Amino acid sequence: MDLNGKNYKAFLERQEAIKKQYSAKRAEKQHLKGKLTAHERINLLFDPGTFEEIDAFVTPAASPVEFGKVEKSYGDGVIVGHGKVNGRLVFAYAQDFTIMGGSLGIVHAKKIAKIQEMALKMGSPIIGLIDSGGARIQEGVASLSGYASIFHNIIQSSGIIPQISVIMGPAAGGAVYSPALTDFVFMVNHTSYMFVTGPNVVKEVLNEDVTFDELGGAEIHARKSGVAHMIYDDEENTILALKKFLAYLPSNNVENPPVVPDDGSVPEINEKLREIVPDDPNKAYDVKEVISNIVDRNSFFEISELFAPNLVTGFARLKGKTIGIVANQPKVLAGVIDIDSATKGARFIRFCDAFNIPILTLEDVPGFLPGVDQEHGGIIRHGAKMLFAYSEATVPKITVILRKAYGGAFIVMNSKNLGGDFNFAWPTAEIAVMGPDGAVAVLYRKELAESPDPVALKNELVKKYRDKLANPFIADESGYIDEVSDPAITRKKIISAFTALSNKWVKVPARKHGNMPL
Ligand code: HXC
Repeated sequence: MDLNGKNYKAFLERQEAIKKQYSAKRAEKQHLKGKLTAHERINLLFDPGTFEEIDAFVTPAASPVEFGKVEKSYGDGVIVGHGKVNGRLVFAYAQDFTIMGGSLGIVHAKKIAKIQEMALKMGSPIIGLIDSGGARIQEGVASLSGYASIFHNIIQSSGIIPQISVIMGPAAGGAVYSPALTDFVFMVNHTSYMFVTGPNVVKEVLNEDVTFDELGGAEIHARKSGVAHMIYDDEENTILALKKFLAYLPSNNVENPPVVPDDGSVPEINEKLREIVPDDPNKAYDVKEVISNIVDRNSFFEISELFAPNLVTGFARLKGKTIGIVANQPKVLAGVIDIDSATKGARFIRFCDAFNIPILTLEDVPGFLPGVDQEHGGIIRHGAKMLFAYSEATVPKITVILRKAYGGAFIVMNSKNLGGDFNFAWPTAEIAVMGPDGAVAVLYRKELAESPDPVALKNELVKKYRDKLANPFIADESGYIDEVSDPAITRKKIISAFTALSNKWVKVPARKHGNMPL
């Protein structure tokens, strides 16, 4: 090759121009806002030296009419490419807010669409690092069509490759639907926000004053709307957590999740598990303590920790293999199932099922949350989602009933007839149509009303109900559960049950798709 030739010189000039484009001044703009640049984010995400950028030299399309200016930049405000994360192939795009606010023009959109299609063909996860003012105003309908193709690609890849969005700046307007369609959304506290209409529109239309953070900050989306699954205080920690998280997932729906070495420090027979559930059935405890005494040491990665905390969901490992955990949390609202926890659980179960992740259910649930708000809010429709998701899932499914398993809630939490593969119960389990107080009130209303000492009679009947009906033995004797077992051997039992289920194969009848109650 002629190193003094015209083309080689032009090649070097282009390289130089790109270096100049990403000047220290641009970086400083981001840093002053507490944000990293798109390149810094990519460097943090990928294993050193593995990221290969493509389409770095594309230039933006011209605006169809003279309105505002289109910055003549290389790359059109987004970096796309592939590399290794924890040694595995991952595709990613990172929007560059310093170029026209990371806004999405048609060229920018085509770059993202190209990388999405590659990720799908290669069967590798795709990560979107989002920092954008949304559709590029100057390009009009072309940028809207760009978003539409991105959405379409996400939907085509759904359930085939894991798709993760990390919000690291604005995500406004219809643009929020790109992350919303992906499997998991990470956000950074105080520097990222998501909303369909921003504070100015809220003020104009409703005359309400609200800040960016109050309307669509990370905390709000993690706690209230449930849009964000994971939030962290800064970008470095967000990306580190994302890398840790990726290690639980397979690259695609025909692979199994990666297996990591287990240090063996959690004993298979663990007497601590006998002490966590209190003797008093009305006393709360932390189900996460049960989880940490069953799974590999420090392997629990919680999903949607702040949203509907009455149901705990997350990934963990058993002997180095990924499992998904769904557990009622007696510490919050006594672990009842309500609208938010039902949708949270259903979505998590469906992800596990799509990506070959066996599900462990830990059950202690007094029932569905009663009340006008819940009924009018559609607990019937939302609760049905959880039933649907459990029943539809064909991955190995094990339930351990720790304590309460009453009524419809018993059925919902992966009961045997809903398709549970192994259903165990601790001796502390209470399995019945309803709790003792409710049952006594329904069956003995007249006797209680006529009794000279209704309190003593009620206590006597509640005791009788607990002894005769609200225990695990009737279910055990009639095969509605598989075994009542000692809490201390739970880890051993679950490992052995999942091993027995490792070749589970279920023939699903041909159909276009089921009709989940949405
Ligand atoms: C073109 C944009 C832009 C956009 C920002 N910029 N958004 N350019 N199209 N959508 C440019 C600004 O003109 C500015 O250019 C630079 O990016 C930085 O923006 P600032 O406003 O100075 O930054 P900041 O103060 O941090 O405010 C960020 C912001 C604000 C809150 C995101 O820019 C904003 O409100 N943008 C519009 C958000 C929006 O409503 N987008 C459309 C959503 S609807 P200069 O040259 O001055 O540096 C949508 C439809 C999708 O996306 C449909 C999908 C179905």
